[in-house]
Amino acid sequence: MQTDDQTSPAQALDAIVARAHTEFSEIDNAAELDQAKARYLGKSGALTNLLKSLGKLPAEQRPTEGDRINRAKQAVEAVLQARREAIRNQQLQAQLSAEVLDVTLPGRGMGVGSLHPITLTLQRIAALFRSIGFAVATGPEIETDYYNFTALNIPEDHPARAMHDTFYIDDDDPLLLRTHTSPIQIRYMQEHKPPIKIIAPGKVYRVDSDATHSPMFHQFEGLWIDEHVSFADLKGVVSDFLQRFFEREALQVRFRPSFFPFTEPSAETDMGCVFCNGDGCRVCGNSGWLEVGGCGMVHPNVLAHVGIDSERYLGFAFGMGIDRLAMLRYGVNDLRLFFENDLRFLKQFV
Ligand code: DAH
Repeated sequence: MQTDDQTSPAQALDAIVARAHTEFSEIDNAAELDQAKARYLGKSGALTNLLKSLGKLPAEQRPTEGDRINRAKQAVEAVLQARREAIRNQQLQAQLSAEVLDVTLPGRGMGVGSLHPITLTLQRIAALFRSIGFAVATGPEIETDYYNFTALNIPEDHPARAMHDTFYIDDDDPLLLRTHTSPIQIRYMQEHKPPIKIIAPGKVYRVDSDATHSPMFHQFEGLWIDEHVSFADLKGVVSDFLQRFFEREALQVRFRPSFFPFTEPSAETDMGCVFCNGDGCRVCGNSGWLEVGGCGMVHPNVLAHVGIDSERYLGFAFGMGIDRLAMLRYGVNDLRLFFENDLRFLKQFV
């Protein structure tokens, strides 16, 4: 049995710690726990009050008693801390079971994208020309007046410029959105010596908008310059390309005399209507023919602009609309469908 004077406060302290232990263990939320803490360690908490009353004890008892109270304080703090962590754990467990995740559910899957029909068409055109030795060249969409017109033998005030009504970026220093892919011919011939055998695809721009015209559309240019390239080669290359593109060996192709400033002689290329096989229908305006591009023998003035000797070299060029070829191949009757990006339309080409 403890009989001395100091035993009683020690028991009191033990009782306080035990009470804290019981009290804390019944609490299951952090706010209440804080309030309970105040009852022991707060400004007028049980242990704080004991510390304050130390001053009333005889001086020689103070260190021992102070030490005891501090240890009791540490014990209460440890219980408090343990309870805090337990509460946090409980909450986490509750949250985890509320937000249960079934990892055995099948995945939602990711939509796999696909290439745009115009891109598919362009790749098909490039592959067909690569197979007969043509390289693929590109050029800038913002062009100078010189490359788009002048170097192609379209002088200022030439009526052909009016046919290419375009978007000017700066009137003083004539920069414009190219109206055709023909300027790539010039850029390429400036950089490369003959023999030259390229196609040059890309976006072109004109002030034009309806079911078969868009302010932005796609063309590709063909150019073959060498010592003995003739109009017969032009006819062969273009006819063969169209027959392979449309997978119709018997596809008729004809060349109608026409005019382009950068070719002489020039021709318009028509092919037999792929919808009625030449019998005449709505698409071909009952003519049996569909116009698909322009072509001709490169004009000596154009060769002169790029420093190619037209006495030694000659060749042909042609231009075709990529969107138009895509429309004919896929049977699409409105050009704008390609650019509205309605997935219901685009998914049909996957
Ligand atoms: N650049 C012409 C146009 O957009 C198409 C064209 C015609 C290109 C004849 C050519 C060509 O290379 O020889 O209307």
